[in-house]
Amino acid sequence: MNVSVERPVLEDREFRKLSNFIEKELGIRMPDIKRVMLESRLHKRLRILKMSHFSDYCDYLFSEQGMRQEFPFMIDVVTTNKTDFFREPDHFVYMENNIIRPYLSSHHGSGTFDIWSSASSTGEEIYTLAMVMEGIREDYGALNYSILGSDISQEVLAKARKGIYHSSRIDVIPMNMKKKFFLKSKNAEEELVKVKPLLQKNVSFVQQNLMHDRYNIKKTFDIIYCRNVLIYFSTEKQKKILLNLHRHLKEDGFLFLGHSETITGLNLPYVSVAPTIYKKS
Ligand SMILES: C[S@@+](CC[C@H](N)C(=O)[O-])C[C@H]1O[C@@H](n2cnc3c(N)ncnc32)[C@H](O)[C@@H]1O
Repeated sequence: MNVSVERPVLEDREFRKLSNFIEKELGIRMPDIKRVMLESRLHKRLRILKMSHFSDYCDYLFSEQGMRQEFPFMIDVVTTNKTDFFREPDHFVYMENNIIRPYLSSHHGSGTFDIWSSASSTGEEIYTLAMVMEGIREDYGALNYSILGSDISQEVLAKARKGIYHSSRIDVIPMNMKKKFFLKSKNAEEELVKVKPLLQKNVSFVQQNLMHDRYNIKKTFDIIYCRNVLIYFSTEKQKKILLNLHRHLKEDGFLFLGHSETITGLNLPYVSVAPTIYKKS
């Protein structure tokens, strides 16, 4: 006997409710073309919650208890976390050769850099930055640095804090760096690698929704990476975030955006120094 279980359908009314809420709270645009994606990603949540209708899911999500308990899961469902080690590598080359090394060579080899990766996902961007900084430290022992990673999603932050990855993720990294910065799992069948403590000692993580008016992070930074997240936001929200990040940049600080992102035409207090790299003005 064939028993077919009907999958819940995301009707127009619930889609509008959810997409308006996601856009307002997370800044992530949810046009009609994303409806199928949202429906299929939320099916898992409905299954776990044993719900057969999206209307029940909405009632729960928008209740006081749902806002506390379900909202964090919904954030993980709707965000796109794609990232890689050394993604868009020319950014790291620019940072090393045009910012950090020139500063150190003109300041008797010493200096401190505070770096913030503001949509750090599962940590590959953070540990790439740490590898670059450790590489420079071999020439400039008096270099100090801190790297803060933040993201809206607790799930990706938890992965980033662990620093454990499938070994195929580090294929892009040269062999000498792999040896220096990664440990292989003792169980060869697992095919896992873990970043060495050396890469974690100057790194910390915190949850931060870039859409909030004020950030919990109180520091200012020399360099902020905000890559491959602005694309999800409307122009107005991008502007708001870029102004917030501006407040968190030190004088002459640098902002790195993703390769398909730009601030051209937004009339913001940054000057372009290279493609997708900006300086506070
Ligand atoms: C595509 S990943 C980019 C990761 C990394 N920056 C890179 O370029 O490889 C986008 C990240 O932005 C995060 N994100 C989405 N909306 C956010 C928001 N409102 N505040 C903070 N982070 C957000 C997602 O959780 C996701 O981890």
